Amino acid sequence: MALFGVSLFTLFSLLLVALFPSLCFTADPSIFYDLRLSYITASPLGVPQQVIAVNGKFPGPLINSTTNDNVNVNVHNDLDENLLMTWSGIQMRRDSWQDGVLGTNCPILPKRNWTYQFQMKDQIGSFFYFPSLNFQRASGGFGPIIINNRVIIAIPFAQPDGDITITIGDWYTQNHTALRSALDAGKGLAMPDGVLINGKGPYRYNNTLVPDGIEYETIQVDPGKTYRVRVHNVGISTSLNFRIQNHFLLLAETEGYYTTQQNFTSLDIHVGQSYSFLVTMDQNASSDYYIVASARFVNESLWQRVTGVAVLRYSNSKGPATGPLPDPPNDFYDKSWSMNQALSIRQNVSASGARPNPQGSFHYGQINVTQTYVIKTVPPEIINGTLRTTLNGISFVNPDTPIRLADKYNVTGAYKLDFPDQPLNRTPRVDRSVINATYKGFIEIIFQNNDTVMQSFHVDGYSFFVAGMGTDEWTVDSRSRYNKWDSISRSTTQVFPGGWTAVLISLDNAGVWNIRTENLDRWYLGQETYMKIINPQENGATEMDKPENVLYCGALQYLAKDQNNSAGSVLRGNSKLLFTLLVAFFALINISS
Ligand SMILES: *[C@@H]1O[C@H](CO)[C@@H](O)[C@H](O)[C@H]1NC(C)=O
Ligand SMILES: *[C@@H]1O[C@H](CO)[C@@H](O)[C@H](O)[C@H]1NC(C)=O
Ligand SMILES: *[C@@H]1O[C@H](CO)[C@@H](O)[C@H](O)[C@H]1NC(C)=O
Ligand SMILES: *[C@@H]1O[C@H](CO)[C@@H](O)[C@H](O)[C@H]1NC(C)=O
Ligand SMILES: *[C@@H]1O[C@H](CO)[C@@H](O)[C@H](O)[C@H]1NC(C)=O
Ligand SMILES: *[C@@H]1O[C@H](CO)[C@@H](O)[C@H](O)[C@H]1NC(C)=O
Ligand SMILES: *[C@@H]1O[C@H](CO)[C@@H](O)[C@H](O)[C@H]1NC(C)=O
Ligand SMILES: *[C@@H]1O[C@H](CO)[C@@H](O)[C@H](O)[C@H]1NC(C)=O
Ligand SMILES: *[C@@H]1O[C@H](CO)[C@@H](O)[C@H](O)[C@H]1NC(C)=O
Ligand SMILES: *[C@@H]1O[C@H](CO)[C@@H](O)[C@H](O)[C@H]1NC(C)=O
Ligand SMILES: *[C@@H]1O[C@H](CO)[C@@H](O)[C@H](O)[C@H]1NC(C)=O
Ligand SMILES: *[C@@H]1O[C@H](CO)[C@@H](O)[C@H](O)[C@H]1NC(C)=O
Repeated sequence: MALFGVSLFTLFSLLLVALFPSLCFTADPSIFYDLRLSYITASPLGVPQQVIAVNGKFPGPLINSTTNDNVNVNVHNDLDENLLMTWSGIQMRRDSWQDGVLGTNCPILPKRNWTYQFQMKDQIGSFFYFPSLNFQRASGGFGPIIINNRVIIAIPFAQPDGDITITIGDWYTQNHTALRSALDAGKGLAMPDGVLINGKGPYRYNNTLVPDGIEYETIQVDPGKTYRVRVHNVGISTSLNFRIQNHFLLLAETEGYYTTQQNFTSLDIHVGQSYSFLVTMDQNASSDYYIVASARFVNESLWQRVTGVAVLRYSNSKGPATGPLPDPPNDFYDKSWSMNQALSIRQNVSASGARPNPQGSFHYGQINVTQTYVIKTVPPEIINGTLRTTLNGISFVNPDTPIRLADKYNVTGAYKLDFPDQPLNRTPRVDRSVINATYKGFIEIIFQNNDTVMQSFHVDGYSFFVAGMGTDEWTVDSRSRYNKWDSISRSTTQVFPGGWTAVLISLDNAGVWNIRTENLDRWYLGQETYMKIINPQENGATEMDKPENVLYCGALQYLAKDQNNSAGSVLRGNSKLLFTLLVAFFALINISS
């Protein structure tokens, strides 16, 4: 009988391998992280203030992963308010349950923790995480994410000698609760107090402009080596020009896609955007060099203090950097240089991405658009007595019950599927309108920025082709200016004030996905919505089922147990089938013995 049992077991194992190739013996590796968010006191600009640290560090630690890794991140909320962590640019294939925004997740309450479980499915590149609620990103809580290529996949450049991550962002000495109160009181944000580089204030390049005693960032390098420098704008609302004195920035990647390689002396990086540069240390180290991130499209003489300065130090450096900073682009009144620079960023269509096939093998320019959405922003306005922002006249309020959870439990009225595909000429209102998008559709979204500030727009769960940009009102004729061959794919695009950006998206990722401005103040006041993309033949294969540790809230509050008692399971989607098989297996063993 024992022998029979073994052969049965073998049979069963084979059956498992056949049924679950990714689950069983050829499983993708799992990686585990604990991220604990707490307040610390820090003085990045010389003024003590409340900062959100991750594991005691500001910025938070790197999540270093490889394509297809199963990531388990246990997020601990030691703050005094609700928390959700979102993973900017990570596509969460079929799994918007892990996306960490209020339309898809109930918040993690103070003093609780929750484990996110997702796969870095078919992605490579540079991304970052940040807390998505309550304006918290303005106080920190962010950190970088790297998805490395699998060793069998070639990268379109020589293996760099080192990897350097740099976060840049505008910063206020007021904490996020104070900034939030200002917005709640109907006031806009004032000029930021500075720009931080890796959470640190400016190097004292000018004794008048920078006070003494500020800690600055130093990046150590060796002469002759080439580094992959990954730069993320994690700030609130300021576009930044990034440059390294006397060094070329050879652009290589943006938010998960390889670009054609070209040298820049400086690049505009807008809020929420990520880039990789290959930087060769080809100078003779007569001194250290400045690394600069300065506010863009502002009156430089008024915004001088909104400049981040770090130091690039060769191991054979002969002394500190001195003299003026490398010049920023001088075009306060002219956006064309910046737009041309943005349009010059092209996809390397012959390089492999996360898979061996070329990045350009999806010929997006030949696919017919199934629906067009024109999404328009205007400056903040008063709706019902409070200052709000809108998309197509709708200022979004999050549903009390997350959208897919409401669907699963037949909660009615949680949201509406009536987000308009055009900016309608009607009274702006506060609402829960979501886009009813068609699974497998190929859509065109035109972000029309009728606001007075530079904006970035981000779509969760997807990357999109940035087909075109203009400085005017978009019309159907604008399509003739689209790049239909090698537009860059990314998840965050800039939209110039008074202008438009058109993106093309293939809707192959079922779920509910946030569309938002990355400008934190505009987002906070209502400039977001969701796209609900559900396969009408949904059978569990195109969308993951809710995770076993799912949190409940809103109309489903009654289902909430003590959050800390719900141990997460690694088995998702297939788990029910697996359970059935196991039952069958043990039943067989019982019969046979
Ligand atoms: C945040 O700022 C407000 C207003 O300045 C202040 O009252 C509050 O104490 C600050 N919070 C912390 C934890 O420092
Ligand atoms: C990330 O992990 C890989 C191994 O998987 C390692 O080679 C690399 O040095 C790590 N990168 C960083 C920046 O720590
Ligand atoms: C909370 O963290 C503990 C370990 O610190 C873990 O065992 C538990 O599963 C976590 N809870 C959730 C809901 O992730
Ligand atoms: C420092 O900045 C001030 C204000 O812009 C300027 O007047 C001064 O010349 C600068 N000093 C040096 C040494 O560059
Ligand atoms: C970029 O600049 C480097 C010098 O740092 C040079 O060696 C390289 O050839 C340039 N590459 C391109 C594509 O222009
Ligand atoms: C190398 O350093 C010397 C001063 O030590 C300087 O005169 C020279 O211009 C530098 N060369 C380069 C290529 O930067
Ligand atoms: C910038 O601000 C300064 C000081 O207020 C002012 O004199 C100057 O005219 C402004 N420059 C531009 C281009 O608006
Ligand atoms: C796109 O539409 C045109 C006409 O509307 C049609 O002729 C063509 O076959 C379509 N292409 C694809 C790939 O469906
Ligand atoms: C929701 O409604 C559907 C169809 O009306 C029903 O099959 C399902 O059991 C309901 N689900 C819950 C959790 O009540
Ligand atoms: C203003 O608020 C009232 C009450 O909450 C609501 O009924 C009405 O629809 C709101 N109006 C707009 C334009 O949002
Ligand atoms: C959403 O769109 C689908 C077609 O894609 C349609 O069948 C359905 O009725 C729409 N739902 C609503 C609420 O408009
Ligand atoms: C907003 O749109 C109106 C009407 O098309 C136009 O007159 C105005 O210049 C626009 N403003 C901006 C900042 O785009």
